[in-house]
Amino acid sequence: MTHPFIEHLLKDHNKQRDFAEKLSSAENREDKEKYRQALYDALYPHIQGEDASIFDFLSGKGEEARAGALEAMQEHHVDRCLLKELMALDLDDEVFTAKAKVLQEVNDHHLDEEEEEHFPLLQSLATDAELDELFEIYETTEHEIEED
Ligand SMILES: [Fe+2]
Ligand SMILES: [Fe+2]
Repeated sequence: MTHPFIEHLLKDHNKQRDFAEKLSSAENREDKEKYRQALYDALYPHIQGEDASIFDFLSGKGEEARAGALEAMQEHHVDRCLLKELMALDLDDEVFTAKAKVLQEVNDHHLDEEEEEHFPLLQSLATDAELDELFEIYETTEHEIEED
């Protein structure tokens, strides 16, 4: 059975995929603004929470798990850079849609890797009690961002 924490992360991933697609194909200012914010809200707290929980955990689980976790966290870093630039960009800027599409490509690739590699590894290494604990850390991180 899939742990509720993993279910939660998978639901977030589908939101990110949906909003990134809507943002990449947005044709007017209203949609660009709406889906940029929606993608930010679905993505930024998620990657901060993952860094503090699952990737922190995997970093301490041997050389191979650590190498994978470091790579995933670097992908989060690229997400953050692109997201930050996109949030600061004028909606009419010529590169708006190009940047949104690159963020979508980078993030979709990252989501697939998490679902195919990192989550199964996590489920094989962590007990249910550890996953409960990681879920709490994840949610605490998310809430701290919302209060900022
Ligand atoms: Fe991630
Ligand atoms: Fe994720």
